[in-house]
Amino acid sequence: MLFDRQTYIKRRQTLREKIGNGLIIFIGNNNSPCNYPANGYTFRQDSSFLYFFGQHREGLAGVIEADTGKEWLLGDDIDIEDIIWTGFVPSVSELASESGVQNSAPMSELKKLVDKYHSKGKPVHFLPPYRYDTMIQIADLLDMHPLLTRKNASVRLIRAVVDMRSVKSPAEIEEIERAMAIGYKMHTAAMKACKPGVTEKYIGGLIDGIAASYGCKTSFNSIVTMHGEIFHGDPSLKPLEDGRLLLCDAGAETVGNYCSDNTRTMPVNGRFSPRQRDIYSIVEACHDLVIEKARPGVKWLDMHLDVCRLMTDRLKELDLMKGDTEEAVQAGAHAMFLQHGLGHMMGMDVHDMENLGQVFVGFDDEVRPSEQFGTNCLRCGRRIQPGWILTDEPGIYFIPALIDKWKSEGMHREFLNYDKIEEYRDFGGIRIEDDILITEKGCRVLGEQTIPYHPDDVEAFMAGE
Ligand code: GLY
Ligand code: MN
Ligand code: MN
Repeated sequence: MLFDRQTYIKRRQTLREKIGNGLIIFIGNNNSPCNYPANGYTFRQDSSFLYFFGQHREGLAGVIEADTGKEWLLGDDIDIEDIIWTGFVPSVSELASESGVQNSAPMSELKKLVDKYHSKGKPVHFLPPYRYDTMIQIADLLDMHPLLTRKNASVRLIRAVVDMRSVKSPAEIEEIERAMAIGYKMHTAAMKACKPGVTEKYIGGLIDGIAASYGCKTSFNSIVTMHGEIFHGDPSLKPLEDGRLLLCDAGAETVGNYCSDNTRTMPVNGRFSPRQRDIYSIVEACHDLVIEKARPGVKWLDMHLDVCRLMTDRLKELDLMKGDTEEAVQAGAHAMFLQHGLGHMMGMDVHDMENLGQVFVGFDDEVRPSEQFGTNCLRCGRRIQPGWILTDEPGIYFIPALIDKWKSEGMHREFLNYDKIEEYRDFGGIRIEDDILITEKGCRVLGEQTIPYHPDDVEAFMAGE
């Protein structure tokens, strides 16, 4: 386990107090087959299960009786046939005792425990499942259609888990710092390897291998692409071209499952062209504005909109936008260039707790999600708090399909200079992403070493200076 048993005992006790009554169940993840059952995807435990029970084995479930505090860890012990293939695995009762859980039982007992509550109409709290096998498990336990399990999840449990997981403890921050240190090695290796003729895949493989060589996995599929305007651009076998930019968005996830998430955009030939530097310096200024302004109590939605205003002002200087900045941002015209949100929470999941529903994680009664194109991708809008970790990831993207669509519709013509934008249609995209911890008075950029991002620093680093 990543932390000592007391940490998990205390977390479950806090949760129980928040929930008050009913049965709380956490279904851990099962192995997930890739192309046949014995050939699986890399196992990844469910983050909330891990947060409260700390165990990485597949096929477990954790149960807490909120009223009494009685707890169970459920799962099936392996037999000799399994041992032949997998070697020794601790018994479920040993795992339970390691996690400070008094009772253990085979998985078949779960239905009986749930029935005691369900048959009497007492609440059974579960989180919204995101894997279909878990949906089926919950559906079987509670006699509902598997596809209804997300909708029927316990809002009380979601809110309690979000409350607890949003604020990172010093020990969690330390683990995230370990992920940041590997992320630094990944990103600086990408910068060193970036040269005309090298393929995107090579760089992708190189950085994924660095994560693996430190016992980590990547916190999501690494994005390594000359088409930075494609948000989730998988690395291709294309050789890097002189004169283009390479966007690398990647992070490490430690063995204990805490993440890093950084993006750097670099000139393939090691030198930004004046046009690339112009756009880059806007993204840099937006990124730095967040570091200057983020502090407890600030609405993250306002931070996003401040970034959009600065971006609009600076794009007006380049003749790409025009008109009144405030009106342009209110109308959403800046979303021609920035189509995603400023940043998301990060922790055990790179998009922390996104499986619980962004409306619970990033919004509240005061700040509701926007429906406007662009701002509707903001995954967090509410007032930020000490102990939260958020990404600061502004970007500017020239998406040919979006340019064509908006131009043909005459969209935001009063704020967008389409003739000028056309000159950039093959530009690609730039994003700079760092992870910040909200402190009592402001914020701290995570990572002991800064992955170079000021344009002169990027060039000097790539030149080996
Ligand atoms: N690539 C995931 C993110 O940066 O949000
Ligand atoms: Mn990222
Ligand atoms: Mn991110």
